Amino acid sequence: MNYPSTKTIPALESGKPLADLSIVGGAGHVGIPLMLAFAEAGMTVNVNDLNEAALSLLRSGKLPFIEHGAAPVLTRALANKRLIFTSSPYAITRTGPVIVTIGTPVDEFLNPVQAAVQKCIDNLLPHMSDDQLLVLRSTVYPGTTDWLDSYLKRLGRKNKVAFCPERVVQGYGIRELREMPQIISGTTPEAEQEAVALFRRIAPELVVVKPLEAEFAKLFNNTYRYIEFAATNQFYMIAKSAGADYRAIMKAMKHNYPRAKTFPGPGFSAGPCLLKDTMQLAAYARNQFGLGHAAMQVNEGLVLQLVEDLRRTYDVSTMTVGLLGMAFKAEIDDTRASLSYKLKRVLQTCAKDVLTTDPFVTTDPSLLPFDQVVARSDILILCAPHSTYADSDLKGKPVVDVWGFLKNANVIS
Ligand SMILES: NC(=O)c1ccc[n+]([C@@H]2O[C@H](COP(=O)([O-])OP(=O)(O)OC[C@H]3O[C@@H](n4cnc5c(N)ncnc54)[C@H](O)[C@@H]3O)[C@@H](O)[C@H]2O)c1
Repeated sequence: MNYPSTKTIPALESGKPLADLSIVGGAGHVGIPLMLAFAEAGMTVNVNDLNEAALSLLRSGKLPFIEHGAAPVLTRALANKRLIFTSSPYAITRTGPVIVTIGTPVDEFLNPVQAAVQKCIDNLLPHMSDDQLLVLRSTVYPGTTDWLDSYLKRLGRKNKVAFCPERVVQGYGIRELREMPQIISGTTPEAEQEAVALFRRIAPELVVVKPLEAEFAKLFNNTYRYIEFAATNQFYMIAKSAGADYRAIMKAMKHNYPRAKTFPGPGFSAGPCLLKDTMQLAAYARNQFGLGHAAMQVNEGLVLQLVEDLRRTYDVSTMTVGLLGMAFKAEIDDTRASLSYKLKRVLQTCAKDVLTTDPFVTTDPSLLPFDQVVARSDILILCAPHSTYADSDLKGKPVVDVWGFLKNANVIS
């Protein structure tokens, strides 16, 4: 498949934008680095998203959230007129692939919400032509791609269906899309071939498998990572209960020992993907996924254990506790499924007061400046190890540092 690389001025055809491809959910965390990667590869991208506020920020050259390295790429893409911004399914380009990157949540009973994808596709179909490739990029419950293929056939549609999962680590998609292989799958040889042609434009390497294999590969990647974090978090809690220094233990484990090279340190394992994807797999495995369930218990339980440990040593009810870092991980501004907020909620039931700060988060009006939180707190907890905290002056206040991150601080555990 030969996509034009020289088109620079998007034109309208029967009220429709003319683009080489459309990305539905193109203004989200997965959508932005992806649409920029295709734009950088010379393609004109229809960035389709319901979030008008995010679209208008992008249109003005600003990013709606932190995506490292994205700003200059966005500036270039806008200058080269590679981006078209649309917010209705009607505006889906009738030619070129349509990639879907919308959120795929689990419900309050921990089951995947398949209806989210179906509703989105139902809205798109009347505006797509029959020969367009539909690429699922969102993380989906195993079997979804084949289900979508037969669903479309039942509707009398001939669209080709592919599943090409996103695997970038949040905040670093620009770099990782350039460096990482893409997993490609299609429900027919034609779908697979078109997906290969599309992702060859941006990826250094492709791995082609069947849709079910691709769906499992994505979920296994994330769940394995989540289990690794659970292993180190559990070891941390065991070492702590024995009064041993886990930092020293990890140093001993890893030093020039190749098999422990990638073993992660302890910390809050949070965010919108790892836990949710482990739940999807557990749901698929009829809730008989002992290892996954154990990982959820450990990672979610870490913050509860931390509060319990504090309460055993201090009269927390008389203390103000300061939480440093409310994003779900370091160097980003995203608070989705952040364990910092779970910790905050638990502490609010037992501490005198809970104060919070974060240098990146802009969506939480209750956040206070760092200096104020340090000054007013009796005890501090490092929740997200933002680099700015590494050498910061905590005024000698006792601090809980699960991560083993702080230097020159009065670390109590
Ligand atoms: N965040 C990550 O780093 C990451 C990494 C790999 C995979 N994933 C997976 O990718 C998917 C998307 O995650 P995300 O973090 O980008 O979510 P997100 O909420 O940041 O982005 C989704 C975007 O889709 C838009 N949207 C929702 N429904 C729409 C519709 N019907 N039409 C047009 N736009 C619509 C939203 O407005 C939003 O901008 C999920 O399945 C997630 O598990 C995420």
